[in-house]
Amino acid sequence: MQLCPCVPLLLALLITPSRCRQIKALALLPTNDSYLFSLSVVRPALELAVETVQRNPSLLGAHSLNVTFADSDCGNKALFKTLDFEKQHGRPDVIVGPVCVYAAAPVARLAKHWEVPMLTAGALAHGFADKRGGEYEYLTRVSPPYSKLGGLFLAMFRHFSWKSAVLLYHDDRMERECYFTIEGIFAAMRNEVDIYVTDIFVTPQHNFSREVVEHVRIHSTVAVLCFEATAVHKIMLAAHRSGMTNGDYIFFNIELFNSTLYGDGRWNSFDAEARLAHRALRTITLLRYNSPEFDRFTIEMKQRSLEMFNFSYGDDNVNMFVEGFYNALLLYAQALHEAMLHEDHMPSGDEIMRHMWNCTIAGIAGTVIIDANGDSEGDYSVIALTDTERGTQKVIGNYYGHWAKFEETPGMEDWWPRNLSRKTTPQGVSDTSSMCQSYGLTYVKTVAIVIGTLLLCLILLGIFFFLRKYKVFIVKKKNWAEQSSEKHHYLREDSIESNCSTA
Ligand SMILES: *[C@@H]1O[C@H](CO)[C@@H](O)[C@H](O)[C@H]1NC(C)=O
Ligand SMILES: *[C@@H]1O[C@H](CO)[C@@H](O)[C@H](O)[C@H]1NC(C)=O
Ligand SMILES: *[C@@H]1O[C@H](CO)[C@@H](O)[C@H](O)[C@H]1NC(C)=O
Ligand SMILES: *[C@@H]1O[C@H](CO)[C@@H](O)[C@H](O)[C@H]1NC(C)=O
Ligand SMILES: *[C@@H]1O[C@H](CO)[C@@H](O)[C@H](O)[C@H]1NC(C)=O
Ligand SMILES: *[C@@H]1O[C@H](CO)[C@@H](O)[C@H](O)[C@H]1NC(C)=O
Ligand SMILES: *[C@@H]1O[C@H](CO)[C@@H](O)[C@H](O)[C@H]1NC(C)=O
Repeated sequence: MQLCPCVPLLLALLITPSRCRQIKALALLPTNDSYLFSLSVVRPALELAVETVQRNPSLLGAHSLNVTFADSDCGNKALFKTLDFEKQHGRPDVIVGPVCVYAAAPVARLAKHWEVPMLTAGALAHGFADKRGGEYEYLTRVSPPYSKLGGLFLAMFRHFSWKSAVLLYHDDRMERECYFTIEGIFAAMRNEVDIYVTDIFVTPQHNFSREVVEHVRIHSTVAVLCFEATAVHKIMLAAHRSGMTNGDYIFFNIELFNSTLYGDGRWNSFDAEARLAHRALRTITLLRYNSPEFDRFTIEMKQRSLEMFNFSYGDDNVNMFVEGFYNALLLYAQALHEAMLHEDHMPSGDEIMRHMWNCTIAGIAGTVIIDANGDSEGDYSVIALTDTERGTQKVIGNYYGHWAKFEETPGMEDWWPRNLSRKTTPQGVSDTSSMCQSYGLTYVKTVAIVIGTLLLCLILLGIFFFLRKYKVFIVKKKNWAEQSSEKHHYLREDSIESNCSTA
């Protein structure tokens, strides 16, 4: 048995009678650097957190925190690595990660089975909110899940009395971040706002933007987009060419993780038309609190990633995941400390969890509030391109999740369209019985009519569509769960979304 460096802490031991113990943490993160939360980026944050925790003897006392890192990839590997770990070292005391929804779900279920707390800066899908008594009971999310983003939209809709929205997204059928983002927004707003969800199975290089824009025109004046940057750009250009960027419509784009996209001079590469087009676009980001402490943290993280993994951030800033995982270990250490004050042995997972939920910690970038359901509250900013000449973007509104409070930035009132509500009566929506049908686009319909009954041509058309992967679904408010059987099947596979089907 290993001798712990307990001697100087004998006194502490007298007070806390628990024995000196090594706390086993298992961190599950992908090694592939194409992820924003790869090991190269997050490991330095976890190691710094361990150092911070160990430096503070009042936190863990004589115990030490030992983090083992494993490659979670973004799928089932996370579960397999967890089981491998158990075989070699016994059950971990705490699991940190994974981020990807499909990787996190089975690990979170196992964590419940083992009664081991699991903390992650990911697993952002709405389905994970099924906590108390549910499948994900031992999961704590230290970064705001997508349903908190829904809170922002709900607050904005109330503030401006908007009544309907079109939610448009691209479903990559892989990690499906946009699907889960939109789902979170939908879940928060579905009872108050008429929502038209449009799921676009389209490769972004395809010429789809005009149809997207027409769809917005038909259904609402407020559009929420979740696409990659180039697709958003195309949609905005198409909107501009259709005369929809004069203040009659507003488009929101969600960009939570990659902070490089703002204020980086990227706008300089846009021509005059593109700049005008982007005037109707508002971007949603996480609210940033600047502090000298966070600046030091950023520098330290970049330096460590470079030294440890030869990984260079370039111009990117540390993202939500790096910050979140650092906070996760801090939160765990603090909860463990509090739980140990009351028990003279290693507290149960359940006991530790009780000290993590419904509590507030001083995180590295500001206060982190974990709600009574074990999820972080989210503060967000809305950004607009306020100077089209220089491409300057400014914050025009903020949302404080804990208080569900939306505020326009003083002096930026002009950037909020006030006259949208007059045009929110939706038209041309199909009845519910046909909701499973996929709707062709106008020119496609024309073609279909012309060709009519010629079966051969229809088959050719089918092949054409299949090859182009081009399909637009219009789903009515109540039927999120009853979409095409293909999609439903796809959703079942993951069984994350136990909550989605109650829509
Ligand atoms: C990393 O992920 C990207 C995107 O998912 C993939 O294209 C690439 O092959 C992966 N690299 C490795 C080494 O697995
Ligand atoms: C940390 O834990 C791992 C796995 O349990 C073990 O192999 C390793 O020796 C431990 N490290 C220290 C410093 O005790
Ligand atoms: C895309 O749509 C525009 C507008 O209708 C059209 O001018 C252009 O030719 C289309 N591009 C392709 C590749 O279909
Ligand atoms: C963030 O976005 C910028 C601009 O689109 C891109 O160049 C960069 O690679 C992105 N960073 C990451 C980590 O994906
Ligand atoms: C570190 O990465 C740079 C490019 O990113 C490469 O040129 C260099 O050889 C790498 N150094 C080591 C030690 O791998
Ligand atoms: C959360 O904590 C506050 C006091 O900090 C308490 O009043 C409230 O009842 C707690 N909520 C739950 C659900 O435990
Ligand atoms: C709103 O629209 C009405 C009529 O279309 C117009 O008279 C009014 O000036 C508009 N208000 C603002 C703030 O644009």
